[in-house]
Amino acid sequence: MGNGNEDMLPLYETVKTRGRFVYRIFAVTFFGAVLLILYHRLTHVPQGAKWLWIGIFLSETWFAFYWVVNQTLRWSPVHRHTFKERLYKRYEKELPGVDIFVCTADPYKEPPMLVMGTVLSLMAYDYSPHKLSVYLSDDGASDLTFYALLEASKFAKHWVPFCKKFDIEPRAPKRFFSISNSSMDHHSEEWTTIKKMFEEMEERVETAVKLGRITEDIRSQHKGFLEWDKKPFTSRDHPPIVQILIGGGDLKELDRDGVPLPTLVYLAREKTPERPHNFKAGAMNALIRVSSVISNAPIILNVDCDMQSNNSKSVRDALCFLMDEETGHHIAFVQFPQSFSNLTRNELYDGFMRVISAVNMPGLDSQGGAPYIGSGCFHRRSILGGRKFSEGSREYLSGKNWGKNEEEAWTLEERSKDVATCTYELGTEWGMEMGLKYGCPVEDIITGLSIHCRGWRSVYCNPSREAFMGVTSTTLADALVQQKRWSEGDLQVILSQYCPFIYGFGKIKMGQMIGYSTFCLWAANSLPTWCYAIVPSLCLFNGIPLYPKVTSPWCMPYAFVAFSAYGYSLYEMLWSKGTVKCWINDERMWMIKRVSSFLFGFMDNIFRLVGLGKSGFEISNKASDEDAMRRYEQEIMEFGVASPMFVIVATLPLFNLIAFALGLKRVITQGSSALDSLMAQLILSGFIVSICFPILEALFIRRDKGRFPASVSCISIVSAMLITCIPIF
Ligand SMILES: *[C@@H]1O[C@H](CO)[C@@H](O)[C@H](O)[C@H]1NC(C)=O
Ligand SMILES: *[C@@H]1O[C@H](CO)[C@@H](O)[C@H](O)[C@H]1NC(C)=O
Repeated sequence: MGNGNEDMLPLYETVKTRGRFVYRIFAVTFFGAVLLILYHRLTHVPQGAKWLWIGIFLSETWFAFYWVVNQTLRWSPVHRHTFKERLYKRYEKELPGVDIFVCTADPYKEPPMLVMGTVLSLMAYDYSPHKLSVYLSDDGASDLTFYALLEASKFAKHWVPFCKKFDIEPRAPKRFFSISNSSMDHHSEEWTTIKKMFEEMEERVETAVKLGRITEDIRSQHKGFLEWDKKPFTSRDHPPIVQILIGGGDLKELDRDGVPLPTLVYLAREKTPERPHNFKAGAMNALIRVSSVISNAPIILNVDCDMQSNNSKSVRDALCFLMDEETGHHIAFVQFPQSFSNLTRNELYDGFMRVISAVNMPGLDSQGGAPYIGSGCFHRRSILGGRKFSEGSREYLSGKNWGKNEEEAWTLEERSKDVATCTYELGTEWGMEMGLKYGCPVEDIITGLSIHCRGWRSVYCNPSREAFMGVTSTTLADALVQQKRWSEGDLQVILSQYCPFIYGFGKIKMGQMIGYSTFCLWAANSLPTWCYAIVPSLCLFNGIPLYPKVTSPWCMPYAFVAFSAYGYSLYEMLWSKGTVKCWINDERMWMIKRVSSFLFGFMDNIFRLVGLGKSGFEISNKASDEDAMRRYEQEIMEFGVASPMFVIVATLPLFNLIAFALGLKRVITQGSSALDSLMAQLILSGFIVSICFPILEALFIRRDKGRFPASVSCISIVSAMLITCIPIF
């Protein structure tokens, strides 16, 4: 092919997933069966137990509705592939600058060495270092984190050239050393030296963290520590701190081979108890402003502090979309999936992220763009600043000289501090039309939505070598708290002025509005799931049939829906490269989440609406103790804390166990006609019991520290008994 042609070729391609036609036939058939079920319910109203019938009917109607809504995520998925060689050929010399934001908030919940792994992996990106700047926002304003960053900046001088010389992956040191050994590489001497250097640094940082403060010896190493001299200095009340550790006009740091390093900046924005700090959105907006003073790159990548790079070419992947000559000017942001390194083989708590990444996000991508999920996302700076889409105006990323500011570091630091104060945003559009939006725990979702509503689209990029790897919750309590926060925040979106159907009306496609609402409605599944987990079992041992007899033809649609729904979700899990056990774990988690996290998320929204309580942003604990870690690695569920969520988690299977036993007794004593009419309920409660078996095991059989605390066991046994006694009329 001639060179002329080559210049015209797109930088990425979009592939429609195969098997759409088969899926659509399945979906239509499934929907037909669902309609039959609803018809059957309406035409076969029982004489007694009307309330229970209404409960079941409403739940089924909800599930049917939610299933329909979910079809936007599955109807026409697309996958995207980038051509990085073409980008390289055409633009290598003129690639734009990239500012990378890492957000951390607490040196004890998010250990500094984990954060430094992230920082180092990003500094080592396969990208021209003078176009790259890494900013660490520390909302904990901890001198420990600052010290760790100082150490990382020194280590980077050796680490970055080492990565590039041997082209290693992944470029997070700890992760790399855990999977590589010196004999694997031919340069074992260098490997050993670097490893030793890293371990020494780790040792120094961890000693300081254990000590809980910075010694005089360390303090004298850098002028930056003087910033902590203001008294009293607390994480909630302190002046702005900006320290440029690498870069700035007068401070050209070179690595050991004499090559410049990416700019590295520490930021702790000002905080006072009198002003709201707006959580992560506030930190992001401060980062946007500070970086505009120092490097002002047109592309911004933001990651959570535990999201280490697993693919040093991700910047190039993202630029293939943003710089595509044909369609690039439509694209506001490129979202990468979140993958997790701390998953066990069968993903005890988190398998569902796999399906979201592999199935749902590609589905949304075809509806106008994946949502912004707060981490692993490349944005255009101008659009975060509020720019609207118009066909005529294009932003050219290539060809300009995106030089960094050449002023002295000290001047830059002082100027940056001015934009990182609490008062800077007063009377401005920050938090509303500019930057990330305030006032919602899922600031990322509404920010993405508002970008879509301004006419932009986004793409979802899931390269075969995953771009980022985070640390997932390794205890059930953490997983549930996190799910509660998400489901609560998402529901809050649909109840606010950002409701996709109102805010997006006339601005985005119907499919996209519905797509957004699938996540927003997670919490609303809690009550129907509760109803479905209790009512049929309650009726079972009271001898009230709720489903058609096994011998009746009406049984068919019910059986079809039940089996094909589970069969299909198993297929999805396997297609997303999960295992059968992943799927079982996921089904269990799905049930647990719906009845606990989502319920609390739902209730909190109600409380908020009627003026009780408030919503906040809790950090889930990313470090956990050794015993619990060992159990996690053996895939044993962890229930060892007394939490009201666990009472619910234990009560439900316990109640179903009782119901199943009593139901079985009834069927055995009453014979085949009872079996015929109660079969479906027997299967349902048997299913709940068996899928929740690990919970029952933790109640009665296990003896380790991860089983339920006695208080939780007692309360749930009593609660299960009480539910059993609910009178039926
Ligand atoms: C992640 O998992 C590894 C091994 O599975 C473990 O050593 C490490 O402590 C875990 N990290 C966190 C932060 O949980
Ligand atoms: C990192 O990438 C490698 C290569 O594709 C893959 O095997 C590994 O699972 C990835 N790790 C994570 C946690 O994404």
